Amino acid sequence: MKVVIIIPTYNEKENTQRMIKALSKIVPIVKDHTLEVLYVDDSSPDGTAGVVESEMKKYPWLHLLSGSPKKGLGVAYARGMAYAMKQLSADYLMEFDSDFQHPPRDIPRMVNEIDHGYDYIIASRYVPGGSVPANWTIDRKAVSLVGNLIARIGLLIPQVHDCTGGFKLSRVKGFMDEFDFDTLLSKKFAYKIHLLAYMVVTKKAKIKEVPFSFENRIVGNSKYSTNEMKESLKVILLFQLKNPSIIKFFKFGVVGGVGFLVNLFGLRFFNGVYQQFSWPIGLVNFVANATAAEISIISNFIFNNLWTFSKEKITNPVQYISKFFAFNFSSIIGGILVPSFIIGVGTQIFGDQYREVFLILALFGFTVPFNWFVYNKFIWGKKNLK
Ligand code: GDD
Ligand code: MN
Repeated sequence: MKVVIIIPTYNEKENTQRMIKALSKIVPIVKDHTLEVLYVDDSSPDGTAGVVESEMKKYPWLHLLSGSPKKGLGVAYARGMAYAMKQLSADYLMEFDSDFQHPPRDIPRMVNEIDHGYDYIIASRYVPGGSVPANWTIDRKAVSLVGNLIARIGLLIPQVHDCTGGFKLSRVKGFMDEFDFDTLLSKKFAYKIHLLAYMVVTKKAKIKEVPFSFENRIVGNSKYSTNEMKESLKVILLFQLKNPSIIKFFKFGVVGGVGFLVNLFGLRFFNGVYQQFSWPIGLVNFVANATAAEISIISNFIFNNLWTFSKEKITNPVQYISKFFAFNFSSIIGGILVPSFIIGVGTQIFGDQYREVFLILALFGFTVPFNWFVYNKFIWGKKNLK
């Protein structure tokens, strides 16, 4: 496989001189794969590009993209990645810093993971064996940890332990070659969050986290600013607003909420209707709620089929009826029997004043996840797609 290590630089002359030297010792020792290095320099005033240019005479594996104005790390990577894929025919793209905070000695360990079939190899500070610099203050550590946690929760990817690092290896075929760089959600450092979300959430890449020690920058200055945090939040939000699973879950919530209102008002309506029969009030409400609940189940089924699961829509009449019965069955279990049981047991133990508490617990703790699972897996599961 051909791995292109992309190194964006802005005023990194001193680091670059040393880095190319360090890389010249790494490139030849990786035997099973071909390593090439692509510097992407945004017209650094200190003359970083000149250093790369003169070293290129010695090293055929060294490439340079230069002369562009400084527009941000995301823009630099977009350019570098497109070039690496099209002009250098990369099979894997590595994101790498120029300032030795990502130790070059870890490159072979990352590249070796390709042989185990991984699509996305993440150098991780937050798995056993990984670390951040020991001299980081508590504040700095906390900011990094919290930022990470927000990304993991916001993108719903607890399986990734280091979401904000910048040392990664991504498969091109079927992954990065299908990414539309025009849609990149950030021109700055937060582009990383978008690529991570794309690889993990959209592409369901096979991931490997390789522990590594993030080191201190020795020379030059960091280009990171706290503004990048806000930018990362923006990327998470924009990504999720377009995430088909999130949109689906939102529709499922709306349909469920409407179903609840149908049940609530239906109960009042049918209470009025059945009052004319001179039944005891308990029976009136029992039948009224059963009627209203069934109507809400029917409305849930119809609207979920038309809207939430429009892509998996059931149209075959025989299937429609059998799925409707399955839906009814699961609604009775998930929406009536189990919540009633939870409320019954809960109030028996803790007292009647907790009735609503247990209702909410039952609905959000059980019914919502249960329905979401059953709908996705069984009612509108993939097997329906013919
Ligand atoms: N071409 C170009 N254009 N390069 C840039 C630009 C830019 O606008 N901004 C930064 N760079 C280059 C730097 O020269 C360096 O090689 C690399 O991008 C990372 O920039 P640093 O300034 O060293 O950032 P950092 O150390 O604060 O951030 C690193 O650690 C973070 C995790 O703590 C990066 O790896 C981040 O991606 C990572 O999130
Ligand atoms: Mn750095």
